[in-house]
Amino acid sequence: MTDPRRVLITGGSSGLGLALAVPLLRRGDHVTLLARDPVKLAVAAGQLREQVPGTRVGILASDVSGPGIATDLDRAVAAMGGLDLLINSAGILREGYVEKLTDQDYRQTLDINFFGTVRTIRAALPHLKASGRGHIVNIASVAALTGVFGYTAYCSSKYALLGFSEALRAEMKPQGIKVQVVCPPEFDSPMVDALDQTRTPENQAHTLTIPKLDVTTVVDAVMAGLSLGSFLIVPGAQTRLMTFGIRHFPGISRWVADRSIRAAYRGPH
Ligand SMILES: NC(=O)c1ccc[n+]([C@@H]2O[C@H](COP(=O)([O-])OP(=O)(O)OC[C@H]3O[C@@H](n4cnc5c(N)ncnc54)[C@H](OP(=O)(O)O)[C@@H]3O)[C@@H](O)[C@H]2O)c1
Repeated sequence: MTDPRRVLITGGSSGLGLALAVPLLRRGDHVTLLARDPVKLAVAAGQLREQVPGTRVGILASDVSGPGIATDLDRAVAAMGGLDLLINSAGILREGYVEKLTDQDYRQTLDINFFGTVRTIRAALPHLKASGRGHIVNIASVAALTGVFGYTAYCSSKYALLGFSEALRAEMKPQGIKVQVVCPPEFDSPMVDALDQTRTPENQAHTLTIPKLDVTTVVDAVMAGLSLGSFLIVPGAQTRLMTFGIRHFPGISRWVADRSIRAAYRGPH
């Protein structure tokens, strides 16, 4: 075990955030999980202690979009004795027709996925600078690279997060802080289980054109990406091929999407 880091994972009580804690703990890192629900956090930390015995898992109940995030983060960092790696995985998804989503859906999605990440990073920066090897990893989505039916709120938040991450990378580089962003396609998680209960048929059809991964594949890609250090991490070979197509042949990508949506179309009425 070499080079243990002090790691804070937002959205650490579930899905990708929780799954990422396992290899980090196995390599000897000290990990603190941050999320809103203290019960889910305690259960998650218990699971991790069983999976990786003898490891140091902390929990912090806080809302990345709430007024207390900076003071809460300071408290968690003090308990770890510093912060080397911040992984921003906290996020929500509201899927639906633009006519059906509410102002609150848009506001909450942007508040958590974008502003929550921005505020967490700003609160963490003094600690990451003090570390001397500060590192930020933002979990965006393939929905930051292409528009998906039903994701007008979600894509807005993830495109914003990708743009923020690009600019932040340039600003942090001279200060020795590494910034990376992950754009996974859909993977199995509680977020997707909930989505499956309510998603529009058009979203179902459109997302079927983007190969789904299991969470383990995403975790492996993130861990490999952390070591390699490239800015953009796109898990899955098929996803990388697809994003190449989106970037270089956008018209063809939209044609494929439109064709799948047309076959499933019901509309908002
Ligand atoms: N699953 C996918 O297919 C997929 C694909 C691409 C990208 N992503 C992104 O990957 C990340 C993780 O997604 P997931 O599927 O693992 O989701 P998940 O299982 O629903 O986990 C989301 C986590 O975020 C926490 N959270 C939500 N709102 C929060 C807030 N305001 N403050 C602090 N914590 C908050 C949740 O706990 P509490 O509710 O207790 O706060 C939970 O721990 C998200 O950013 C998501 O957008 C997911």
